[in-house]
Amino acid sequence: LLGQEEVQAAGEAILSGWVTQGPRVAQFEKEFAKFVGAQHAVAVSSCTAGLHLALKGAGVGEGDDVLVPSYSFIATANSILYCRARPIFVDISSDGFNLDPSLLEVAWTPKTKAILVVHQVGMPCDLKSILKFAARKGVKVVEDAACAIGSEVNLGACWEKIGKPHGHSACFSFHPRKVLTTGDGGMITTNDTQLDQRLRLWRHHGMSVSDVARHRNQEIIFEDYTDVGYNYRMTDIQGAIGSVQLTRLSGILKERRSLARLYEQLLADVDGLLVPHEPSWARTNWQTFLVSLTDDRVDQRAVMQQLRDAGISTRRGIMCAHREPAYRDVAWGCSGPNGCDCGRSHCAQLLFSERAQQRSIALPLFPGMSREDVHYVVKTLCKTVSTIQTEVTK
Ligand SMILES: Cc1ncc(COP(=O)(O)O)c(C=O)c1O
Repeated sequence: LLGQEEVQAAGEAILSGWVTQGPRVAQFEKEFAKFVGAQHAVAVSSCTAGLHLALKGAGVGEGDDVLVPSYSFIATANSILYCRARPIFVDISSDGFNLDPSLLEVAWTPKTKAILVVHQVGMPCDLKSILKFAARKGVKVVEDAACAIGSEVNLGACWEKIGKPHGHSACFSFHPRKVLTTGDGGMITTNDTQLDQRLRLWRHHGMSVSDVARHRNQEIIFEDYTDVGYNYRMTDIQGAIGSVQLTRLSGILKERRSLARLYEQLLADVDGLLVPHEPSWARTNWQTFLVSLTDDRVDQRAVMQQLRDAGISTRRGIMCAHREPAYRDVAWGCSGPNGCDCGRSHCAQLLFSERAQQRSIALPLFPGMSREDVHYVVKTLCKTVSTIQTEVTK
């Protein structure tokens, strides 16, 4: 949801003459940290870049293992490989799209350095159980909160925003498919002041003095490069857009919730379909309304094609990293005994992940969507599923 305010903010950044990471990024970071309740927020070029730095900041390096769901956008697992560590894939639970904490113990290896959890499509994962397990084992939790801006959890005392953070750090995405966008971009939040400083260094080539500080200082300063860093900066044009987007966020969330409620009401008890549900301790931002087909004979692609033919755009749910060609030769692990002897694109230990990949469909949900459109989607979806079901039963 972008409008004239974003155009004006981007224009002002351009005309200010300062277009790379500078004061507008700093302002956006401040506002973002306040919104999620974190002590620090570090803007980066993408969530993927953020995950790479967050894992590095958690001490993940060559030879380490990281427990992670396979059922996630490919960038989640990729970020572990960037650190030359090994992803140990943990299955999701049977009744949702998030990691099943009861499998962490069997997936655990002596080399496990961190747990990378995902708040998939905005739905908070079971942080309480995961944090308890991580504390017992003495490892850090990094949250892939790419989709979860505005989502909330209640860990016992009160509702808190995802990104507070509850683990060591949390990483957000501002890709246009997300609830808040800066075109592309990301944010890492943390309460660890030392980590905050290292992240700032790493995202900017390991440079000891920021561009802004050098520019503003009356005396000449020479910078050092104290660590091998990266160019993971966000531009000030993006930062300016992000600040405007934040002011829209509560309205966007309200509208998404209202559309999701309508979907929930209309799709409750429909034969052949399961709708997502919020556990009592979670509030999603409804970034994506992901329904599941319950009858294996009803082909996901056929349903999507028929909806497409009726003018309704859907997306398949999420991929499983272990099934992608890029992971064919990657030495990933799973919760099977002594690793896993399953085929590379099928793993018996990741049954619910593979099932979710094959069965889930993301329905249209966006600010400005009319209630009539929701009714039309539901009517067409129900008719499509029931027609296919009848055909395959014949
Ligand atoms: C769960 C998850 N993690 C990471 C990413 C990567 O985000 P970005 O495109 O900002 O790098 C995405 C993007 O869709 C995502 O959904």
